[in-house]
Amino acid sequence: MSLELQKDNATVTIGDKTFTTDVLVGTENEMALDLQALRKNTGVIGLDPGFGNTGSCKSAITFLDGEKGLIRHRGYELQELADNCNFLEVAYLLVLGELPTPHQYRQFMEKVKENNFLGPSLQELLNHYPSNSHPMAVLASVVLSLTGFYADLGKEKFYELDMDVVRLLVKTPLIAAHNYRRKRGMKYIIPDNSLGYAENFLYCMFGRSLDPQRRKIMADAMEKLLIIHADHEQNCSTSTVRMISSSNANVYAAIGGGIGALWGPLHGGANEAVINMLEYINMTGGNIDAVIKRAKDKDDEFRLMGFGHRVYKTYDPRAHIAKAVVDDLLEKLGVEEPLVDIAMKLEQVAIHDDYFVSRNLYPNVDFYTGTAYKAMGIPKEMFTVLFAMGRMAGWLAHLIEFRNDEDRRISRPRQVYTGAPHRSFVPMDQRD
Ligand code: ACO
Repeated sequence: MSLELQKDNATVTIGDKTFTTDVLVGTENEMALDLQALRKNTGVIGLDPGFGNTGSCKSAITFLDGEKGLIRHRGYELQELADNCNFLEVAYLLVLGELPTPHQYRQFMEKVKENNFLGPSLQELLNHYPSNSHPMAVLASVVLSLTGFYADLGKEKFYELDMDVVRLLVKTPLIAAHNYRRKRGMKYIIPDNSLGYAENFLYCMFGRSLDPQRRKIMADAMEKLLIIHADHEQNCSTSTVRMISSSNANVYAAIGGGIGALWGPLHGGANEAVINMLEYINMTGGNIDAVIKRAKDKDDEFRLMGFGHRVYKTYDPRAHIAKAVVDDLLEKLGVEEPLVDIAMKLEQVAIHDDYFVSRNLYPNVDFYTGTAYKAMGIPKEMFTVLFAMGRMAGWLAHLIEFRNDEDRRISRPRQVYTGAPHRSFVPMDQRD
């Protein structure tokens, strides 16, 4: 077998079979070999567990440069968006490709306000979950159940998905807030259309028990955290959404699956796991070295939560923004949070330790966000729900891009079979 790479194409020769393919170049000069016809021409497939070298699609939504630590949405730097926009503006940008004009934004907000309620049957549905159900389990299954309330099966184009997009963006925080309340025996709060996205969520969760001035401070921080979570190209949950959608499953089925994928501690569930880890360090007298030792031990499954990333080989730019949000929030609320000090010390030890340096392991987006949510009084089992609220924008943007992609096919990877070769069937009474 040989592989010959030229500037514009590559040739793979396996035995007497030769396959030549173009090198595709993206707008930021990322390069890829188009392998769609590889098996047809050579009988060979690519094997790439975890998809570290596999591009599943072309996408115009988000650009990441993991070596430089860059994120741009539709061409705009994430930091600029976080400094200047609210979450719904960024959601609009991701889904529709452009920042809204004042007129477009007003129209969009009209639709948001029309959907800003949770109907009695949805409230009732939530009331039936066991009170110890994890909020991510509830969110995933209630979103999936929206199929029964709203899905017009067979929708394919964006203009038809329009209402589903707004509905999912608006109802997700309401589901999360009411689930928080009903678990504690509290009544549903009617949302307030005069409040922004995050502030309405905090109001629906805490009601009038939260002082409006503090609520505004928290909401400003939360809008930024939602923005930094909004999209991250072909991550595990977004790829799950695309994959489910590839079978033409409806939008709620695809997003429900994405929420399930996000829940895992190697992905969005890391924000809850980070707080568990920091609390453990705090409880055991601040012994950071013991945690670092465990994270480096190959016989121990424990990993330093909130550290490392498939794409970033440097500091995750979202972690910088999250840390600044935490500092600002704690100062404005006048709150001391010992876990932030522990996190900072842990980070300093890790980023100077050869194990982490040699593997390019730096804090990721989940390292600091949990400390902000904790300072807001949000229980830690809801941290990943907050991630899902932000990522909803990205999932929807990718779903629409995928649905409108002329190259779209059902996702159906191949495998290399390593089981038993052919053998003859033995009837049960003849088996030893
Ligand atoms: N702690 C200790 N060692 C680590 C960590 C960590 N957090 N992350 C990676 N490593 C080590 C691996 O053991 C491996 O070491 P080796 O080369 O000696 O075998 C090496 O670094 C490469 O790691 P991989 O597992 O190959 O990296 P991969 O890209 O597959 O995994 C992941 C990325 C899942 C994020 C990983 O870094 C991890 O488990 N981090 C902790 C969980 C976490 O914070 N997840 C959130 C990610 S951000 C997000 O999804 C929103």
